[in-house]
Amino acid sequence: MPKTQQRKTKTRARTVKETALLSEYEIERVKNKAGFNGLTPSEWALLSKNVWNDLSSPRYQYQLEHGAVFPVKLAERLIKMFSKEGDVVFDPFGGIGTTLIAAQNLKRHAIGIELNPKFAKIAERWLAENQNLFSTNCKYKIVNDDCRKLKQYVHANRVQLTVTSPPYADFIRKSIQDRKTTHKRSVLKFENNSTVKPYSEAENDFGNLGYADFLRELRGVLQANLEVTANGGYSAWVVKDYRDTKNKIPYVPFHSDLAQLGQEVGFKYHDLIVWDQTGQRRLVLLGYPSVFYTNQNCSFIVIFRKVV
Ligand SMILES: C[S@@+](CC[C@H](N)C(=O)[O-])C[C@H]1O[C@@H](n2cnc3c(N)ncnc32)[C@H](O)[C@@H]1O
Repeated sequence: MPKTQQRKTKTRARTVKETALLSEYEIERVKNKAGFNGLTPSEWALLSKNVWNDLSSPRYQYQLEHGAVFPVKLAERLIKMFSKEGDVVFDPFGGIGTTLIAAQNLKRHAIGIELNPKFAKIAERWLAENQNLFSTNCKYKIVNDDCRKLKQYVHANRVQLTVTSPPYADFIRKSIQDRKTTHKRSVLKFENNSTVKPYSEAENDFGNLGYADFLRELRGVLQANLEVTANGGYSAWVVKDYRDTKNKIPYVPFHSDLAQLGQEVGFKYHDLIVWDQTGQRRLVLLGYPSVFYTNQNCSFIVIFRKVV
């Protein structure tokens, strides 16, 4: 082969090799490129299940004192999915601060509002103890007040993610009454949700409102929540549907009503996750032998997004 042709073939071979290397490098670069939340594609894919059945019941001492909290792992998962380090996470129905603890663990700033002073104090104590374990530069604040005043405490367009669980109107009061009468001997009384008690006697406690008033007030909170959410930010609501058999209402579709309210105030309905809790609850016999009802053993996580 003449020398010039040999040189040409060598150059072509080098170019092909370089192109191959470059594309491998490109693939690697794309593979490791973090998303808006800091997740790599494989972490992203692993978190994308829409049925969650791997979360165990909350067992920390403080969580047992409240009786209606969600697991830290649940809040952590939502925070990893919808925010990045340094973002602001918010919970208007803060309880004992589970959302804030999860935010603290994951280096996000967090603010919570809780009406009951007893729960707000527990949240403060828990955050202080946890801070010593996970020392970060992020700020945490729990406000003891009515979340209807949330705009007094949170700046407009500041929150990347809300993770919250409101009371379900006066459902807890109703179910406690129900257990005293109908389910006197049922396993329901002794096992499922047996630690549940009303949050407070306060008039402005959402857990003391009838369903219609409750939805009206919740609409106001959603409206204010939209205003404090940053453009592109998210709002995740952990809720349950329930039955009001005493008033002959077989099914109260709270998660659908909430989704409707959120859209009315201007949020986009972004996603829906089912939190399957069947593994943690015994089945009870409902309506037997005349009317068939299923056990309500899952919660819904309604995800809204602000897109302007
Ligand atoms: C389902 S619990 C939330 C528990 C919380 N996710 C946790 O894990 O600690 C609902 C909370 O909303 C609080 N609450 C009720 N009405 C409120 C109001 N108007 N403003 C702020 N908090 C309120 C109750 O005291 C209760 O702690």
